[in-house]
Amino acid sequence: MLGKNSDGEVFLSSSDAPLVGLVKEVVYLEDGEYGWAKNQEITLLKNLIPQHLDFKPLTQDKLSAQKDGFRYFMEKEIYEQSLVVGETLMGRIKDNSVVLDELSTLDISHINAIKICACGTSYHAALCASYMFERLAKMQCTVEVASEFRYKEPLLDKQTLFIVISQSGETADTLEALKMAKNGGMLTLAICNVDNSTIVRTADMTILTRAGIEKGVASTKAFATQIITLWLLSLFVGEQKKVIDAAVLHNEIAALLRIPLALKVHEPTHEKIRRLSKRYLHGHGFFFIGRDLFYPLALEGALKLKEISYLHAEGYPAGEMKHGPIALADSELFTIALMPKTLLYDKMKSNVEELSARDSTLLVISPEVFELADDFIKTNAHNHPMGEFFEMMLITQLLALEISVRLGNDVDMPRNLAKSVTVE
Ligand code: M6R
Repeated sequence: MLGKNSDGEVFLSSSDAPLVGLVKEVVYLEDGEYGWAKNQEITLLKNLIPQHLDFKPLTQDKLSAQKDGFRYFMEKEIYEQSLVVGETLMGRIKDNSVVLDELSTLDISHINAIKICACGTSYHAALCASYMFERLAKMQCTVEVASEFRYKEPLLDKQTLFIVISQSGETADTLEALKMAKNGGMLTLAICNVDNSTIVRTADMTILTRAGIEKGVASTKAFATQIITLWLLSLFVGEQKKVIDAAVLHNEIAALLRIPLALKVHEPTHEKIRRLSKRYLHGHGFFFIGRDLFYPLALEGALKLKEISYLHAEGYPAGEMKHGPIALADSELFTIALMPKTLLYDKMKSNVEELSARDSTLLVISPEVFELADDFIKTNAHNHPMGEFFEMMLITQLLALEISVRLGNDVDMPRNLAKSVTVE
C-alpha cells in the first residue's frame, strides 16, 4: 500500500500498522500495479495504463500505536487481551445463540468438511480450531501449513469450506493458498485482523478478529482473538447444522463470556513470572507440553519463547514424549507443562512424572499443586477448559516476555523476523 501526508511525503508499506500516525489515507495496490513517486507526485500503472489513485481512509487509531506506559508493545498487547476479546465478542452473541452477520450468505447445507491453512501463530490457532470444529460442530476439519499446502497438488473439494487465518492479511503463503482454493471453486472464508488487507479483499467472506493494531512482531492478542472467533464459528456451524445440543451451547456461550475476565493479567502472577524467569536463561532447550487443545497452545508457547529469546524451544503433545523426545530429558532441559484440571489431567500427570523421573527441570502451570515440580505457577480453578486455556496462554506469553527482557533482546522487533511476511 502507499500513503501520502499533508507535507507531500510518500510512504510505501506492506501493511497498515507502520503507516498509522504518518498518513490518514492509503491506496491498496493490486497485483500487477507498479509505478513511482517523484517530486511529491505518485504515478501508478498497470499494463502501461495509468491507474486512478483510489485513496481510502486508514482506519486504525493512532493511539493504539503508543506504548501507554508499558515497556514494550508486546507487553501492552498482552495486557490488552481482556479488552480486545470483549470487542471480538461484541454483538456476536444474542439470545443464547451465535450471530455472525458476515456469514449471512453462507449456505452451510452444502458444506461437509473444513480445511484451514495458515502460518506461524495463526496456524496454531487453526490447530485449536480443528478440535473445536470436530467437537462442537461435528464437522471434519483438517489443518495445513500454507507453504506446504501450496505445493502438494492438493485435492480441492467444493463441499469443503476453505478457511485462512491471518493477523496481517498479507502473508504470502496464506494468500497464495487462498487463491488456489478460490480458483479451484472452493468457498473461502478469511479470519483476519486487518480490514482491507489483500486476504480480506480476496476471500469470499471475512470475519474480522477486532484485536486492534498489533505492533509487536510476536503475536499475542491477535492469537487470542483468533481463538475466540474460531470458537464462535464452531458454535455457529454447530447451530446451523443442528448438531449442537441446547445445554452444550448454553454452557459454551457462558464460558465464552467469562473469557475477558480470565484474560485479566494478575499482577502478582506477572511479578512471580518476572522473578522465575532468571532461572530459565540457559539450558539446552525447552519442551512445552500439553494435550488436546493444550497441545497447540504448547506449540504457541514454544514459538513465542523462541521468537524473542532465541532459545531453543519445542512444543509437543505430551503423549509423544516417549516416542523419542524424552531422550533429551536431563536437568538442563526445561519442561513447561500445561496441566489443566478440566481436560485429561491424569494423563498429563503421568507424562510429566516420566519427565521428572529423567530429572528434567519442571515448570508446571496448573490449578492443582504438583509435588514434583521444580517451579509452579498456580492458575485459577475454571469449570471449562477454555478458561484454563486462556489463563495459561497469558502465562506462557509473559514468561517469553520476561526471559527475553532479561536476555536484553529487542522484544518488539526480534532479529531475523518481520511483522508481515510478504515473501514466500
Ligand atoms: O499475519 P499472519 O497471521 O498471517 O502471520 C503468520 C505468521 O507469520 C505469524 O503468526 C508469526 O509466526 C508471528 N511472528 C508469531 O508470533
